[in-house]
Amino acid sequence: MARPRVLSGIQPTADSIHLGNYLGAVRQWVTLQETHDAFYCVVDLHAITVPQDPALLRRRSRVAAAQLFGAGLDPDRCTVFVQSHVPEHAELGWILSCLTGFGEASRMTQFKDKSQKSGSDQASVGLFTYPILQAADILLYQTDQVPIGEDQRQHLELTRDLAQRFNHRYGQTFVIPGPYIVKDVAKITDLQDPSIKMSKSASSPQGIIDVLEDPALIRKKIARAVTDLGSEVRFDEADKPGVTNLLRIYGALSGMSVTELEGRYANSGYGAFKKDLAEVVVDALAPIRERTEKMLADEAELDRLLGEGAARAGVVARETMRLVRDRMGFLAAR
Ligand code: TYM
Repeated sequence: MARPRVLSGIQPTADSIHLGNYLGAVRQWVTLQETHDAFYCVVDLHAITVPQDPALLRRRSRVAAAQLFGAGLDPDRCTVFVQSHVPEHAELGWILSCLTGFGEASRMTQFKDKSQKSGSDQASVGLFTYPILQAADILLYQTDQVPIGEDQRQHLELTRDLAQRFNHRYGQTFVIPGPYIVKDVAKITDLQDPSIKMSKSASSPQGIIDVLEDPALIRKKIARAVTDLGSEVRFDEADKPGVTNLLRIYGALSGMSVTELEGRYANSGYGAFKKDLAEVVVDALAPIRERTEKMLADEAELDRLLGEGAARAGVVARETMRLVRDRMGFLAAR
């Protein structure tokens, strides 16, 4: 039987992915390549929904791809590519935008949050239609499951609605994708403000840990992470959101359960807990950083791998678009 298909994407909008991206998404991508037919893309078309400097975009697209390989994605076992290398993404995005209600798109909370920050005159139409392009990414590959963090759940709901609408109007065309969200790591929070998610755009430098970050800085940030009243290391979302977030990170990276961790630090207070956690984080990220640096040292090879990925992705994307064009009644080009 064919393996189920997964697809996910990451924006090249920072100099490094952060610990939330890694734990909430990329780590699952690495696991899923063993059991699924996996496609992962660096979504550069999404990155330009906010202003991007060309040199930086170029650099960050390579850094994002290198980090995906550095985190353990194997070009022999999955397909890693750059979204803009497969023009069908933009084409299907347009078609789906003609199936999306204006009101429906207006309800997307990420757009509301982001456009509120910049003011609606500054926000681009591309930022508004961002989730529709995301739906195109997913549907082009006839994706069964989409490994993402909690913040992407609403975009996936829209994707499912659009797929069902298209199938209903034009006949069975798209697989209806489901979310693959791992609850314990679906929302890693900001180290300085546990009420918000760790985020490239919203977090202060002290609140975020980059995967490529210098170990000394990682230790400092964890030592200064906001903890809660009292000194007990206890998992308690409501009263101890800061400690709870650190327990989640510790658990995910060490394989230890929360109960085990609570037991281990029952009498030691926050200090020893944070110190050990810092070492766990540093040890987990060091090999990723080293492999990423190696990948970045040979840009030609990195670009070659991405070219291979785009070629494989393009085969699937073109087949879906052939179906879509035919179902919708576009004349075939002769
Ligand atoms: P992006 O680039 O913001 O984030 C990449 C992935 O990281 C997850 N994530 C988190 N998980 C846990 N805790 C956090 N603090 C945290 N911050 C980010 C995100 O949920 C995401 O899975 N719209 C997507 C990119 C995209 C995409 C797609 C995803 C474009 N097309 C198709 C899936 C399928 C985004 O902005 O991801």
